[in-house]
Amino acid sequence: MKRLKSVFSPDGQIKFELEITPRQIFYRVFYNNKEIIKNSNLDIEIANLKSPKFDLKSFKTLRFNETFELPWGEDQFVRNFYTEAEFKFEKFILKVRVFNDAVAFRYEIPKNQETATIEDELTEFNINLDSTCWQIPAFMPDRYEYNYEAIKLYDIEGSVHTPLTIKTPENLYLSIHEAALYDYGSMTIKLNGENILSSNITPLSDDTKAHVKLPFNTPWRLIMIANSAIDLTKNRVMYCLNEPPKGDFSWVETLKFIGIWWAMYVGEWTWAPGERHGATTAHAKEYIDAAVRLGIKGLLIEGWNEGWEGNWLENGVNNKFTVATPDFNLEEVASYARAKNIELVGHHETVGFVDNYEAQLEAAYNYYAANGIHYIKTGYAGSQIVINGKKEYHHSQAGVNHYQKTVELAAKKKIMLDIHEPIKGTGIERTWPNLLTREGARGQEYEGGALRPSHACYIPYTRLLAGGMDYTNGIFDITNSVKRISTTLARQAAYFVTIYSGMAMAADRPFMYEEKFPELFEFIKKVPTNFEKTVPLLGEIGDFYVVARKDRNSENWYIGGVTDQDGRTVKFNLDFLDDGIYKAHLYLDSKDAHFRDNPYGIKISQKRVKNSDTLEIYMAPGGGFAIELEKVNSL
Ligand code: NOJ
Ligand code: CA
Repeated sequence: MKRLKSVFSPDGQIKFELEITPRQIFYRVFYNNKEIIKNSNLDIEIANLKSPKFDLKSFKTLRFNETFELPWGEDQFVRNFYTEAEFKFEKFILKVRVFNDAVAFRYEIPKNQETATIEDELTEFNINLDSTCWQIPAFMPDRYEYNYEAIKLYDIEGSVHTPLTIKTPENLYLSIHEAALYDYGSMTIKLNGENILSSNITPLSDDTKAHVKLPFNTPWRLIMIANSAIDLTKNRVMYCLNEPPKGDFSWVETLKFIGIWWAMYVGEWTWAPGERHGATTAHAKEYIDAAVRLGIKGLLIEGWNEGWEGNWLENGVNNKFTVATPDFNLEEVASYARAKNIELVGHHETVGFVDNYEAQLEAAYNYYAANGIHYIKTGYAGSQIVINGKKEYHHSQAGVNHYQKTVELAAKKKIMLDIHEPIKGTGIERTWPNLLTREGARGQEYEGGALRPSHACYIPYTRLLAGGMDYTNGIFDITNSVKRISTTLARQAAYFVTIYSGMAMAADRPFMYEEKFPELFEFIKKVPTNFEKTVPLLGEIGDFYVVARKDRNSENWYIGGVTDQDGRTVKFNLDFLDDGIYKAHLYLDSKDAHFRDNPYGIKISQKRVKNSDTLEIYMAPGGGFAIELEKVNSL
């Protein structure tokens, strides 16, 4: 005997269908009556629990419609509009939400016992394997820091991370991801024994997937659906599937910052103490003064604490987060920064030694808080993390819980976080707005050989569907001899628009901004870190991406574009603008610019535009552009 139940999106275009047989349940997804996900198994394996039969005890649906506000981000208002269905079985409740642009579901395990060990989750996504996907491998030493590659789904080897973006042979764009990842292993995707795309939950070192207290809800399994690559980037369902904030986060503020950072990457300074130590009291004061002159609110200081000597990757097990090096007086630097109205961004490089970090966590946050430091960048370099003496994956349940502990403790201390080598974004910043940004993909630290111009044209359609990223933008010293940059100069400004980050770093040294390219720096100085709305304009995965964003605190708009190794001209109209006149400040590649041969070829100009105008912009190979549209009242 089998039963069929259907749930439709509010606009009727998407149908989720559940087939219930005594032994198994399957779902299917239809888009405009076309089956886009075929028979896909749903189940979860709980230790010591003999699988009861799938006997539907109750079924209810509801329609939900609200618009909520985010305190910061790419869009101020997000519509949360779906049909929900609750399928109650003995083992779990399957909760399904069907949006106009996504399907999501999760397992809710009732409190039939106190705790449960999840041995496996058997969620399938039976999508045509002849589809193309853009993927990075999971369970690898560099975590999420790999180059995206386009392959056919049937060529997936091992497991890949989400968001896993897919283009079907019918030219439909899907992205499989998850939302609200708490207390559970991160979902990776593999081809299972039946050669069907399926979940592979990151295991713990004891080879189980998670140990949980009941009742327990798994994260939402999310499938975003769009007709074009650019429309996929408009999807905000991940945030809809997270809870509103609990508590007062009115103190949270996005930030632009410079850093004692790139000088280490290009070998001028070092993280470790010594003759060329970067984080000295004197350097910090110089950088604070520079931040004031540049009109940048924040300053990151890395390498300030004990632990960087010798092989820091190995010695990091002893890192001290409350002990500064002898040449760095934290109290003095912090009070200097306060007097100049500069926010310091503290730094905790754990090197993955989570036990060592957690032992000092409260003291470390108190130390910064006592010195008026409200922002911390954390880091988890290393192929795995050490928790309770065991090596675990960053994206395992143990890792997820550690990152969450830092977010919650930071919230208590009114501290905002930028997490490097993080757990992937699943929208929890809606609930915890003090988690301002993450890295979690290759950023510009990989320049100098490992980054291709196409990289920044992949991530808007893949990694950035998981939320903002600290890409460490704005390196103007393109031709430096250590980490040669694979972009043009103009593109470094574009990144501030194409890669959203609640904490955005202008990563080069101040002299590059003040002395070498002050005119281009004007854009970086003015581009906001908090937007009222985002209008993705044009793009194709791995080829190019053009996006416009409106400032949350003014009438001004900002447009950014990036292209791969091929130069191209893009054309778009400005119909998203309000009526009136805008002064456009254009920072464009020159006709002869080229990321390899002529990276500094830039053309800066101004002109007046209005919403009936069309712009035609050339992007050089490896190039990009940035435009500020400043609202002015008259011609
Ligand atoms: C890797 C991070 O991504 C980078 O930003 C940081 O500077 C180094 N780790 C050292 O902590
Ligand atoms: Ca990194």
